[in-house]
Amino acid sequence: MLYFVFLVSFAITSCLGQTFLRDLSWNFTLAAVNTTLPNTNDTGVPLVLGQNGATSGIIFHVTSTISSYPYNDYPALALVDGSLRAYGSYGDWITNATAVKSGGTMGWVTTTRYAQSASQDYSVITLATSSLPALAAHGLSDQWSLCPFSGFRGQTNVVFNVSANIPAPPYLGYDPASCYGVTINIIPVQ
Ligand SMILES: *[C@@H]1O[C@H](CO)[C@@H](O)[C@H](O)[C@H]1NC(C)=O
Ligand SMILES: *[C@@H]1O[C@H](CO)[C@@H](O)[C@H](O)[C@H]1NC(C)=O
Ligand SMILES: *[C@@H]1O[C@H](CO)[C@@H](O)[C@H](O)[C@H]1NC(C)=O
Ligand SMILES: *[C@@H]1O[C@H](CO)[C@@H](O)[C@H](O)[C@H]1NC(C)=O
Ligand SMILES: *[C@@H]1O[C@H](CO)[C@@H](O)[C@H](O)[C@H]1NC(C)=O
Repeated sequence: MLYFVFLVSFAITSCLGQTFLRDLSWNFTLAAVNTTLPNTNDTGVPLVLGQNGATSGIIFHVTSTISSYPYNDYPALALVDGSLRAYGSYGDWITNATAVKSGGTMGWVTTTRYAQSASQDYSVITLATSSLPALAAHGLSDQWSLCPFSGFRGQTNVVFNVSANIPAPPYLGYDPASCYGVTINIIPVQ
């Protein structure tokens, strides 16, 4: 029901032009739909917070396909004042998405020790091509790619503006030629 109301409100705003939202009143998950390669469905491949190392008191995450990092430790996300937060399995909130930089991954930090203001780079927009709203960073929803990363446990991770990567080795952990463009759908949590 919540979902239905939401789609109606988006259908109205999309007739008037593109709407950017910096807050959503419901929780969601993310899923990636290919923009150039074929899709098996319109919902997309589920995305999760994948491991990206840790230091004392801080755990780092990247946004990964669940097929490359098969653990969904943060089953609900929220958008508040342009910041993305992730809730743990027990509803605890100690995880925020970090700043989005060209050529870089869509990252997150989990910590109880060094809590600081979250990045406000995020918003949600409507697209004429989809019934689901899409995630944007810096107001852009068309700069996301999925890139297979090399190295230990090499996950397939979300990258913003792949073109900013250095066009020759050493790459920033991935080969830009192996990336493919995606839109990141916002899927309401029931
Ligand atoms: C997008 O393309 C990749 C690479 O071919 C594929 O693994 C993935 O399943 C595709 N996504 C969807 C939603 O079909
Ligand atoms: C869409 O396809 C992906 C795999 O490409 C799968 O994980 C997901 O569950 C599918 N969603 C639906 C609603 O079928
Ligand atoms: C989102 O999920 C968290 C954790 O389960 C919960 O505390 C919060 O109330 C939810 N927010 C909304 C808007 O449903
Ligand atoms: C997450 O972001 C909020 C809003 O900026 C901030 O109040 C909170 O301390 C942050 N939490 C962590 C764990 O950094
Ligand atoms: C993407 O990166 C390129 C190269 O650094 C830069 O020129 C361009 O402005 C960036 N695009 C966006 C949308 O940030």
